[in-house]
Amino acid sequence: MATNWTPQSWTAHEARQLPTYPDADALTRATTTLSSFPPLVFAGEARELTDELAKVVDGRAFLLQGGDCAESFAEFHPNNIRDTFRVILQMAVVLTFASKLPTVKLGRMAGQFAKPRSADTEELDGVSLPSYRGDIVNDIAFEAAGRAPDPQRMVQAYNQSAATLNLLRAFAAGGYANLHQVHAWTHDFMGRSPWTKQYRDVADRIGEALDFMNACGINPDTVPQLKGTQFYTSHEALLLPYEQALTRQDSLTGGWYDTSAHFLWIGDRTRFENSAHVEFLRGIGNPLGMKVGPSLTPDVLLRLLDTLNPGRVPGRMTLITRYGHDKIEGALPALVRAVKREGHPVLWSCDPMHGNVVKAANGYKTRPFERILAEVRGFFAVHRAEGTFGGGIHVEMTGQNVTECTGGAVDVTEIDLADRYHTHCDPRLNAAQSLELAFTLAEMLNAELNDRRKVAA
Ligand code: PEP
Ligand code: CO
Repeated sequence: MATNWTPQSWTAHEARQLPTYPDADALTRATTTLSSFPPLVFAGEARELTDELAKVVDGRAFLLQGGDCAESFAEFHPNNIRDTFRVILQMAVVLTFASKLPTVKLGRMAGQFAKPRSADTEELDGVSLPSYRGDIVNDIAFEAAGRAPDPQRMVQAYNQSAATLNLLRAFAAGGYANLHQVHAWTHDFMGRSPWTKQYRDVADRIGEALDFMNACGINPDTVPQLKGTQFYTSHEALLLPYEQALTRQDSLTGGWYDTSAHFLWIGDRTRFENSAHVEFLRGIGNPLGMKVGPSLTPDVLLRLLDTLNPGRVPGRMTLITRYGHDKIEGALPALVRAVKREGHPVLWSCDPMHGNVVKAANGYKTRPFERILAEVRGFFAVHRAEGTFGGGIHVEMTGQNVTECTGGAVDVTEIDLADRYHTHCDPRLNAAQSLELAFTLAEMLNAELNDRRKVAA
């Protein structure tokens, strides 16, 4: 267990990206309420996820992490949860079918509300207001009243997370994720994508395999794993008063766990040495992620790994790289080599979203699909060259038919962006683009695995 750590020891460290609540009593009331609420996840589940991620570190599984950039109160609807969940299932099926590796499924869901911002204030027509920091903090509308940080929003975010997680657990265990449903996970609006046909072919072959297994007596009744799947939740551990209120001591082991999600990550803007966020996360037992971008040097990375994973537990640390399509191949090798040299067990995962934001001519913030693919390609190229395992992907996506990222086989043009641009923060891949990414990724992953198998043979 971490030494000299308490759930509030972060308050003595430099905290960036936290809102300033105008009413301190209201903040205390909200966090006291949250502290009395049930945990959303159980510590044993977080430990189980660490074990699953350790298999990825070893090259025996792959990590798929995806979901909204920012969940919102307005988009809270069972269909949205279901549709994102089923695209994740589809992507996982494609990856597993091609690579023959299990896929660990981790949603950016049921708690992904708080957002870091590049500026504390936003100006419009000469008016300056606090920046929008996610629905858990304030309102997206550019109006003074709603932009004041309101701690009661944390209680609403908790309630929405609880309901979302409840539905995800029901889908995962209650039959929706049964492999026999593999054909039913498609979306009507994806009919135009050439990848839908590819997916149907994969589903047909899985169906045949299941029929064959059934004839051999292997079916959901005899092998319960076929009935459902494990699905885990994650978000950026940004809003520390909220995370602290949900941090509890596990009655089985005595260790502290942040029970707001199975997996928590530190963002690129808050992972500096001695930050409040690093201090908070080092003390919790959950598996952790850390965003790794252009400003991180190998020395600092190694010191952060020593702080966050002093016991060098495999599965504890996932490094989520986010450089940009044109920077990854230049910058990543130095970090990979340093980590390898020091023998830190880490899971390398690729976030091809956050380094590839561009502004379209009509003002929309977008991400060109070809740049996303290029970053993924660069990520695998580096790991193949270094002999390390590129084991995961981290994407902002939705099951909805949105037009937020340009490109893809069903081309979204800059003009189309205006049609269905619904995100509360960054542009997400739509369902068709997500599936296309999964097929392309499966090919790259296979090339990487074939190399490793050759070396092993
Ligand atoms: C995010 O994942 O939404 C995010 C803000 O990423 P980063 O910290 O890498 O910028
Ligand atoms: Co984002």
